[in-house]
Amino acid sequence: MQTATQDITPQISDTFPINGTDYIEFYCGNAKQSAIYYQNAFGFKLVAYCGPETGVRDRASYVLQQDKIRLVLTSAMSPEHEISQHVLRHGDGVKVLALWVDDAENAYQTAMERGAVSAREPETLKDEFGEVTIASIHTYGDTWHTFVDRSKYNGPFMPGYMAKESPIDVKPIGLKYVDHCVGNVELGDMNRWVKFYQEVMGFKLLITFDDKDISTEYTALMSKVVSNGNGYIKFPINEPAKGKKKSQIEEYIEYYRGAGVQHIAVATDDILYTVDQLRKRGVEFLYVPETYYETVEARVGKIKEDMNEIKRQNILVDRDEDGYLLQIFTKPVQDRPTVFYEIIQRAGAKSFGKGNFKALFEAIEREQEVRGTL
Ligand code: FE2
Repeated sequence: MQTATQDITPQISDTFPINGTDYIEFYCGNAKQSAIYYQNAFGFKLVAYCGPETGVRDRASYVLQQDKIRLVLTSAMSPEHEISQHVLRHGDGVKVLALWVDDAENAYQTAMERGAVSAREPETLKDEFGEVTIASIHTYGDTWHTFVDRSKYNGPFMPGYMAKESPIDVKPIGLKYVDHCVGNVELGDMNRWVKFYQEVMGFKLLITFDDKDISTEYTALMSKVVSNGNGYIKFPINEPAKGKKKSQIEEYIEYYRGAGVQHIAVATDDILYTVDQLRKRGVEFLYVPETYYETVEARVGKIKEDMNEIKRQNILVDRDEDGYLLQIFTKPVQDRPTVFYEIIQRAGAKSFGKGNFKALFEAIEREQEVRGTL
C-alpha cells in the first residue's frame, strides 16, 4: 500500500507568512458550562472574558489557555443571533481557526486578491493595553480563518475582554500546542479546498492518502494534508470515499450539517501523564482491542516509553523515517458525533499515524455501530 506520497522539500519563499495558531473559537450552546469542562477535564486556565459585564450585550466569550493553546468559547444572548443560528444548525462546533500573523490587513488583502471570500473586513480594536488588528475570510462550511496581529498588544486577549481567572484550582495536563486541525468536507470537495489553501494562502500539499490507505472492510475516506510555509500550520482535509457502509466522514457531515472541523490535535511531551489525567477527569477515548498490541513492536520497533503502560492506556504507536509518534483519539466532546480531540506526542515523526488508520477506523466503526449510524 505505497500510495501515500510525502513531499518534504522546504519551501523557498513563503508568500503567506503565518506565525502559528492564534486561537480556536467554538460557538456553543452554553459557553459558561463548556468553560468549566475545559478547565476541569482538559486543564485549561480561564484567562479572559467578555460579555454583558464588559459592555458586550449580544454574547459571552470565555478565553482559555494552556501553554500555547488558546480556546475561545462563545454563546449568544438571543435566538436570532448568528451564533445561535450556527449552534442550531451545527451543534457546538469550531467557528474560527485564527492564525497569528504580523500584518492582518495585508494577509486579508492578499487572500482577497487571490480569490478568498470575505467574512469580516480588517478592523483595529483598541483599549488601554494597545491594539489588535483582525480580519476574517471564509473557509470550508461555515468556518472562518481570522488573521490576528497582536504585536502592539499586551492585554489578556483582545480589546473588549477583561482578565478573568479560573474560580477553581485548575491543574494543567501538559498540553502544549496545536499540532494540526482536520476538516471534513463533502464528497468531491477535497481538491477544491486543497486548491484554496494552495492558491489563496500559499500552502503546499504535504501528503495524499487515498481510499486504499484509509479503508476498512466497510468504510473509506480520502485525505490530503496542506501546510503553510514554516510548517507550523497543518490542515488535513478529508472527504468520504465509497465503501459498503456509511463512513465516519458522512456521519460527521450528516450531524454537523455540512463541512467543518473534525478534530483538533494537541501536542504533549508526556502522553502517558496527559491521557491518565484526561481519563481520571472523565474524558472518554476510542478503544483499540488488545490484538493491536500483539504486532505493534514488530511494526514500530523499540520506543522509549514502557510498552505495558502504552497498552494499559490504549495509546497508538506509529513510526516513519524520522522517528515515532504516540497518539490517541477522544470520543466526540459533544452529543452530536462531530468534533473530537487527538492527543499526540511526537518523537521525531512528522507524519500522522498512517499505520494506525485501520485500527482507528475500526474503532470509530464500533462507535458508529453503537450509535446506529454505520
Ligand atoms: Fe489527526
